[in-house]
Amino acid sequence: MRRSIITGTGSYLPERILTNKELETMVDTTDEWIVARSGIRQRHIAADGELTSDLGTAAAKKALEAAGLEADDIDLVLVATATPDETFPATATVIQKNLGMSGGFAFDVQAVCTGFIYALSTADNFIKSGQINKALVIGAETFSRIIDWEDRTTCVLFADGAGAIVLEASEEEGTNQDRGILTNHLHSDGNKHDLLFVDGGPSSTQTTGYLRMQGKEVFRHAVTNLANVVGEALEATDLKPEDIDWLIPHQANKRIIDGTGRKLKMDPSKVVVTVDRHGNTSAASVPLALDEAVRDGRVQKGDLLLLEAMGGGFTWGSSLVRF
Ligand code: UT7
Repeated sequence: MRRSIITGTGSYLPERILTNKELETMVDTTDEWIVARSGIRQRHIAADGELTSDLGTAAAKKALEAAGLEADDIDLVLVATATPDETFPATATVIQKNLGMSGGFAFDVQAVCTGFIYALSTADNFIKSGQINKALVIGAETFSRIIDWEDRTTCVLFADGAGAIVLEASEEEGTNQDRGILTNHLHSDGNKHDLLFVDGGPSSTQTTGYLRMQGKEVFRHAVTNLANVVGEALEATDLKPEDIDWLIPHQANKRIIDGTGRKLKMDPSKVVVTVDRHGNTSAASVPLALDEAVRDGRVQKGDLLLLEAMGGGFTWGSSLVRF
């Protein structure tokens, strides 16, 4: 059976760190409130002139190096982002150029915080169908550019960063012991648009707009949707929560992450958490967390990883991956 295996990971965080203490001087908030309600202590913010494509390119180069590949070996560059450099062309084509690629094809996927899971699933299908052999899948965001810095209910949560993986085709036996992506589950519900959206865009206002969120409602749906989609992944593969070596969740809120971990009865030490230091980097959060856990030696070849995310749209999804 043709599987898509992860052969390299990489990530990049902008140099500038914004702490909760600094936010206290910008809006009516406290470090205590932010930590208690979200688990976030600090986040990274892109420098002036530092674009989503720059963050994505830096992460992609590290993933290519880890995989031992050159950019020209790649057939597809897929970028999950809700904060593209420009309305068009796709940020993926900018990264293709930055990497010096002369062939292949590149496009963006827009599923906000679930973007990386959508992109992973899309690349997996291109590989499984035999259309391509090697893909670079990137989640890259500059959410600081669509934040209303006077809105304390959102500006303390979101941040910038990028993560990337290299996916390669591999012939495997077709069992749960295979390396590679074992199953993907994607969902969306456009009826929930008003709970999390950006109030601008080329067709509606001809402006970029700012992120608007009814946090409490999003929180409530996130807990339910993530529990369901994680259950689907296990059911589809006949695997049990105790088979999972690492839960690598979207990093929106420590309380949501803890809730999902508890439902799976996972030992908290088996849940990869970066939200305290990264904040919510939307489509970048899962590959950033994955790369951190690979580079510090927690995630080992053969480990079973459960990736999950939920975001605007609503969109939500999960992937079970044998690393
Ligand atoms: O990545 C996409 C998915 N996004 C998410 O999953 C985010 C989901 N939502 C959340 O993570 C949480 O709902 C938040 C962290 C956004 C908020 O936590 P909460 O426990 O749901 O708080 P709340 O919105 O109910 O607000 C509680 C109080 C309110 O005051 P009153 O009405 O009780 O007087 C807010 O006005 O906290 C107030 N508040 C703040 N206070 C200090 C809201 N933002 C702040 C703030 N600092 N930054």
